[in-house]
Amino acid sequence: MKKAQIGMVGLAVMGENLAMNMESHGFTVAVYDVRPGVVEHFMQGRGAGKGFIGAHSWQELADSLQLPRKVMLMIRAGEPVDQVIAQLLPVLAPGDTIIDGGNSHFLDTIRRAQYVESQGLHYLGTGVSGGEEGALHGPSMMPGGSRAAWEQVKDIFQAICAHVDGQPCCDYVGQDGAGHFVKMVHNGIEYGDMQLICEAYQLMRDALGMSADEMQAVFAAWNKTELDSYLIQITADILGKRDQDGAPLVERILDAAGQKGTGKWTAIAALEEGVPLTLISEAVAARSLSAMKEERLRAAAAYGREIVRYTGDCAAFVKDLRQALYASKIVSYAQGYALMRDAARHYGWTLNDGGIALMWRGGCIIRSAFLGKIKEAYDKNPQLENLLLSPYFMRQMQSALPAWRRVMALAMLCGVPVPAMSAALSYFDGYTCGRLPANLLQAQRDYFGAHTYERTDCPRGQFFHTDWTGHGGDTASSTYNA
Ligand code: 6PG
Repeated sequence: MKKAQIGMVGLAVMGENLAMNMESHGFTVAVYDVRPGVVEHFMQGRGAGKGFIGAHSWQELADSLQLPRKVMLMIRAGEPVDQVIAQLLPVLAPGDTIIDGGNSHFLDTIRRAQYVESQGLHYLGTGVSGGEEGALHGPSMMPGGSRAAWEQVKDIFQAICAHVDGQPCCDYVGQDGAGHFVKMVHNGIEYGDMQLICEAYQLMRDALGMSADEMQAVFAAWNKTELDSYLIQITADILGKRDQDGAPLVERILDAAGQKGTGKWTAIAALEEGVPLTLISEAVAARSLSAMKEERLRAAAAYGREIVRYTGDCAAFVKDLRQALYASKIVSYAQGYALMRDAARHYGWTLNDGGIALMWRGGCIIRSAFLGKIKEAYDKNPQLENLLLSPYFMRQMQSALPAWRRVMALAMLCGVPVPAMSAALSYFDGYTCGRLPANLLQAQRDYFGAHTYERTDCPRGQFFHTDWTGHGGDTASSTYNA
């Protein structure tokens, strides 16, 4: 009997489409799903007459695979992954590889990689982005785990993933949880990009009073500029979609956002690392605030607040808005990359910043022309301290800055919330400010808790304590930093 090159566990939308993609590239795929009837349904439907082997038990799945076996899980993140690993281990053998293609938390992946490898098998935590369409026609894939595991799946993954200029949007990311960490940051950036677009939309709709058609035209035009990206393109499409009575559908959708948690994880990881990731954190908070719909309605009624209409030159405002969105986006990616750099040091991964930009350049939700520029920046200087210090992005920021400030000032005056754009500008102003007010903050800490401070006229690392009130002691607190 012909054996399959890879097994797919989980035939929900992502698993089914990835399996179809693999098969269409000439790979024989064994498919399994614990839900009764799902395998039969697939084998008689989309999978009929194609290079699939339907398995009806864990053992059958294992028996249908070429050695060493490769089994990919496309199942819900969390507990189910541990349960499936527990089912798989007894039917697999040392040298086989388990691949988790879901949105697992990277710390779970680190733990699972250690466990599975302690049993003599390989483990690959692989971020997969691109939704249903990407899974079928070419996703972006971010595999992390042992190199031996990567070598086993490389040919399959690099065949089925998206390609940009002939290069695969999938390459080895790093050890254990690195792939899922990078996918998590991708999702955080996705939250940021979406929020920025939503803020631009609200400014146009509520401060400028633009119609859905007018906004659609703006986003379609922006998609031909440096903002060229999948999310801008789908925004234009969405604004053009009509409800049955011809009214714009988007205005009928309740303004209460959902979230599955990966944006929150990114913000938490940044807090853990001590990396300022303000834009993504604000994007997560903006979703939570939106979800408080009923409370917001009560607050809106209590304050009787209305957004003030902008009475100036709308066309000039829209031009500025494009710059504001672009500059904010640069900050968001700079913050995301800073987080990955820090985490790489912490977890001992060797991340390739330019390689990550290439993986995100096509196939995934944040795919954009802009990522090509990030790749170029890291190719020119792999040691780049921060994206905001690359000569190309410095020029972009300098030229966008006046427009960005104008938009932020007007947004505040009109009363349109712009949490992500304004967080980005504050970060930029803080990052590029040689003298912040933290001297006062250190004095406050020392005043009430003897937490000590460094002096501008002494070398770094020397700590001082002052008896600010004249009746404190001269015992200082320790100087550790969390
Ligand atoms: C992708 C997406 C995907 C994400 C969903 C829902 O890269 O294909 O990031 O992985 O989970 O789009 O995310 P939220 O429910 O958190 O918005």
